[in-house]
Amino acid sequence: MNTKSYYDELDDNELSESLVTRGQRPERNPGRHPKKLSDSMRKYIKVQDDSRKSFHFTYKAARFEEGWLLNSLGGFYEHQWIADVLKRVKGGKEASVYLCTAGAEVDAELVAVKVYRPRMMRNLKNDHAYREGRHNLDSEGKIVLDDGMQHAMDKRTEYGKNLLHQSWIAYEFTSMQVLKASGADVPTPYEMADNAILMGYVGDRDGCAPTLSEVSLPRAEAQSVFERVLRNIEIMLSKERIHGDLSAYNIMYWEGEITLIDFPQVVSPRINRNAYRIFQRDVTRVCEYFNKQGLNTNPRKLAADLWARHGYRAEPEVDVRLLDAEDPEDRALWQKQRK
Ligand SMILES: Nc1ncnc2c1ncn2[C@@H]1O[C@H](COP(=O)(O)OP(=O)(O)OP(=O)(O)O)[C@@H](O)[C@H]1O
Ligand SMILES: [Mg+2]
Repeated sequence: MNTKSYYDELDDNELSESLVTRGQRPERNPGRHPKKLSDSMRKYIKVQDDSRKSFHFTYKAARFEEGWLLNSLGGFYEHQWIADVLKRVKGGKEASVYLCTAGAEVDAELVAVKVYRPRMMRNLKNDHAYREGRHNLDSEGKIVLDDGMQHAMDKRTEYGKNLLHQSWIAYEFTSMQVLKASGADVPTPYEMADNAILMGYVGDRDGCAPTLSEVSLPRAEAQSVFERVLRNIEIMLSKERIHGDLSAYNIMYWEGEITLIDFPQVVSPRINRNAYRIFQRDVTRVCEYFNKQGLNTNPRKLAADLWARHGYRAEPEVDVRLLDAEDPEDRALWQKQRK
């Protein structure tokens, strides 16, 4: 890949200084996923130099990409969550995913890092449809309550844009934490940094697992995999989450098991006015894949049944603070809700 094409020279060098070069360490949380090692075992483990300066990796990156990776992943290396970057498994519009060997602090051999492009946020179409009813989250996944930060985000200053970018990443990470803890089939989320998420890897050293979109399933298996996907959709609903971009492209398939990925745009079924529409689209896309595999599913009915079973209203009540008094549609909705 030539250097120029590499993310349009990382978005023309607009690497959002504060996002990736301020050298902030990800918060250490020793309780998260400590590797259980006895002291006698520890001495056999090569002690990793604690400094970012020694962070060199096997993957041959283009020039801009290398600096971007060193900045984005330096904290993971420093804390011994990753030891090496082996290869780029996917380069996307919004993020790239790399296969890494895990560091001593993570109880796995291989891990994946998803590193976001600086302009990821701007590429998200219709971002307000997803953001409605969502609080913004900070770099630790906590709700932003600071007025100055909120103002910067409302006004879309450079600082505010960086905070919003961080909020998408925090949504992805915290959703994976909640869903993993609830038994959903998602990668284990290990850590989040300013510009990257460290998670369990699905696949092997040769490459990542295919997504369902690349796999044909025999009918009987299609039925059981479909049921498994529905189980995951139900877990998400029970945790007040809709994936928001669910399809065969965001479900990985490996050794008969599925893994749902790609959560930055999750929405709440309770307080987002577009929730049901987004949910129906998710269910429809999933059904389209399984109908191609020989099943006969009815997405409209299925979406309606799942929605009602989890007690959601077809038109969620919108928090008045989210309504704009100047907007006729919002005013009409307000009148309707008051009845
Ligand atoms: N945990 C993982 N283990 C292995 N491969 C992964 C993992 N997460 C993501 N991938 C691979 O990276 C690709 C991109 O990941 P993801 O969908 O999260 O990012 P994205 O930038 O939103 O991509 P896209 O725009 O293509 O949907 C996935 O389609 C999958 O092939
Ligand atoms: Mg994806």
